[in-house]
Amino acid sequence: MNRVSLPSAAAAFVKSLLVASLAVSGLVCAAEQPAHGAAAPAHGAAVAAPVKADAAKGGTLFDSGDAARSLPACVSCHGAAGNSTIATNPKLAGQIENYVYKQLVDFGGADRNQAIMTTYAKMMTDSEKHDVAAYLAAQKQKPGAAKNKDTLDLGKKIYRGGIADKGVAACASCHGATGNGMPIQYPRLAGQHQDYTVAQLTAFRGGARKNSAPMVALSKRMSDDEMKAVADYIAGLK
Ligand code: HEC
Ligand code: HEC
Repeated sequence: MNRVSLPSAAAAFVKSLLVASLAVSGLVCAAEQPAHGAAAPAHGAAVAAPVKADAAKGGTLFDSGDAARSLPACVSCHGAAGNSTIATNPKLAGQIENYVYKQLVDFGGADRNQAIMTTYAKMMTDSEKHDVAAYLAAQKQKPGAAKNKDTLDLGKKIYRGGIADKGVAACASCHGATGNGMPIQYPRLAGQHQDYTVAQLTAFRGGARKNSAPMVALSKRMSDDEMKAVADYIAGLK
């Protein structure tokens, strides 16, 4: 009901942008593989047909880390079963498996450099990345909640309809109508802490996070207020 209704020409334009950015993201993935292949040989294989991931092993690593390598327990920051209660640490429970694996690979490279996670990701083996991803994908997320009534309509409008006059495609078109994500490349956003979502949009816009061509392009067209509004709406999605 709150969907922005566009004149058909504008709608076609938005659609063509979306198709174009999808094509770009496809190209980016294809182009990335040889580069990652050199550093982590199993990456290409993971995209085509995941190697056998051991979710139980992943759960043990998540809960206990590995003291011998000074790899901390993920649970200490990301919460029990990946339900972080700290707004700057993302919830990981129920996240798309391949997306989690990709992030752990990307943290080890130049496209998503982040002091904490880059250090830990570099300490993990490729199969540990697969195992943790399989464990997290199987966990149930504890829902979040929107906090700001005043911006909820704007957030919903952006999520469902995009921002037509700025060429920002609807978030729903890639992340799903309820924000549950779509295997294999579109992450779940629903229920995520608003602070974390805003931080990622800001990182895409500013160039600190470069691992997604469509997200870099569309975040550059969004204002701080639009990011906050959509992040708050997303936190309340289930
Ligand atoms: C000291 C706190 C801390 C610990 C311990 C920690 N993380 Fe993180 N993790 C973070 C923060 C903060 C971020 C957000 C990074 C950013 O802003 O890009 C993050 C991001 C992530 C992401 C990306 C999520 C997304 O939605 O893109 C994954 C995956 C992840 N961590 C997995 C792990 C795993 C697996 C472990 C254990 C080996 C671990 N983390 C341990 C703090 C931590
Ligand atoms: C053309 C498809 C597409 C559209 C449209 C899109 N996204 Fe994304 N988004 C992606 C992809 C692909 C990723 C995963 C990037 C990666 O692999 O690191 C992503 C990642 C994200 C992340 C990071 C999630 C995390 O856990 O760190 C956020 C936040 C996000 N998108 C928000 C949005 C919002 C808000 C909108 C609407 C304004 C939107 N996206 C529209 C494709 C899209």
